[in-house]
Amino acid sequence: MSIGPKWPNSERKLRFSQSGTHLYIIHIAAEIAPIAKVGGLADVVAGLSKELTAQGHAVEIIIPKYDCLDYSAVTDLHVIYPNLYSYYKGIWIRNTVWRCSLNDLSVLMIEPHNDTHFFGRGCYYDCPDNMERFTYFSRAVLEFLLKSNRHPDVLHSHDWSTGLIPVLYHEIYKGLGLNIKKNIFTIHNLSHQGLSEGWIIDALGLSSSHLRHFDRLQDETFPHLLNILKGAIVYADNCTTVSPSYAEEIQTVEGGCGLNRLLNFYSYKLVGILNGIDYSYWNPEIDPLISHQYSPANKDLFFKNKALCKAHLKKRLNLMEGNKPLIGIVSRLVHQKGLDLIVQALHRTVDRGGQFILMGSSPDTPWTLERFKHLQESMLPTHQVHIELKHNESLAHQIFAGCDAFIIPSLFEPCGLTQQISLKYGTLPIARRTGGLADTVFDIDTAPDQKMSNGFTFDHPTIEGVNWGIDRALKTFINKNLLWRKLMLKAATLDLSWHIPASHYLQLYGDR
Ligand code: GLC
Repeated sequence: MSIGPKWPNSERKLRFSQSGTHLYIIHIAAEIAPIAKVGGLADVVAGLSKELTAQGHAVEIIIPKYDCLDYSAVTDLHVIYPNLYSYYKGIWIRNTVWRCSLNDLSVLMIEPHNDTHFFGRGCYYDCPDNMERFTYFSRAVLEFLLKSNRHPDVLHSHDWSTGLIPVLYHEIYKGLGLNIKKNIFTIHNLSHQGLSEGWIIDALGLSSSHLRHFDRLQDETFPHLLNILKGAIVYADNCTTVSPSYAEEIQTVEGGCGLNRLLNFYSYKLVGILNGIDYSYWNPEIDPLISHQYSPANKDLFFKNKALCKAHLKKRLNLMEGNKPLIGIVSRLVHQKGLDLIVQALHRTVDRGGQFILMGSSPDTPWTLERFKHLQESMLPTHQVHIELKHNESLAHQIFAGCDAFIIPSLFEPCGLTQQISLKYGTLPIARRTGGLADTVFDIDTAPDQKMSNGFTFDHPTIEGVNWGIDRALKTFINKNLLWRKLMLKAATLDLSWHIPASHYLQLYGDR
């Protein structure tokens, strides 16, 4: 029996493109939307890959084959490499490599057949052996590239979970003949770094004593541990993060999560590229999940249909009728997102005569869930507030379309996608001025260039900051309706697609 890969047509095309003018790019990540999504990382991997494909490049994405993948959007799932053996703890573990099509994307999935079923746990993260699962995956990916004779121009890995890719390439696979022109690593969130004990690194056939060195992977706070994110920064040819402001912030003591010295040292290879949003999915002109589509190209219909979306949303959620300003938020309920500030925004909005919709998912502690359940119960009788504590995709789209304003009071925010989506839907953001929020939301009173103003910002993650943002938004909505409508149209006509960010990535990819 032949165990080598059998190339279907699409694969053959990919391999030929290696010699053409277009690039062959492989993304390696723990998530991709919509089949394996926890946060914005999944949207970025899908959105960027789609745009690169549309621009004629050959793109593959490699993820773990979790047993909880949502296969509904997947077609043509088949095995391309049944017996991939990858080294782990002194033996070679068998893996099956699968391929499927996800819309126009080619997604490969690695399924390890180890005793403890690394990706057969019914979840993506949250396992005590997370470090072993994702470092194992990283080595299996490179083993697969070598064995299947894939030599992409660019290997692009994301966040700590695939941070060992550039390390493994330089320490092992380059010497074995794998030929990658560029290793790119993207930081989506510096607060997750992957601190590892030596034996986890040794289990992969790397040498922890060689790597636990100040110039390599040694953690700068806990020197007995190895820091995978640090390794990625040191070994990658270029390191990107998801907005220019976050790229600056992570080089400071306040924002550097212990890696500011390192990031300063490597600032010559660090670039901030703002994320885009996928216009084939987040677009009120074609969105099938909203009640009435609208486009800024037809102004009358824009205002009419957006108002109908608001009415539909309020009816769906049983909110009291009338033209009160409606503020929304769609967020994971985790510390980063400013939990106290979300609650403050809700109360302030209602106190000042507005209505509020919160969709909050994945609470980071049982206590957070309890807190919001309690709030939900206490606000229900008012009919001015709706709190949804599970993600619901159609409701999320309707919140973006039906609300007047959208609040994002994050403590820190590498990029943030929801403010970009709300802008596209003509729903004005009220955002804390940090990271990617500072690069996309410009205040109507304080932005240096008023031509760019498109929302409301506040500097401090405090009750006063939130109140200031909410109060000015509500006043503007109530007293300056013409200005509000002008801002809505301006927001909805911005180019927030992947077109521009993809061209920045391509510059980096092609820059030898
Ligand atoms: C992380 C960040 C978020 C960013 C997303 C995609 O989830 O917290 O700000 O938008 O990654 O890059």
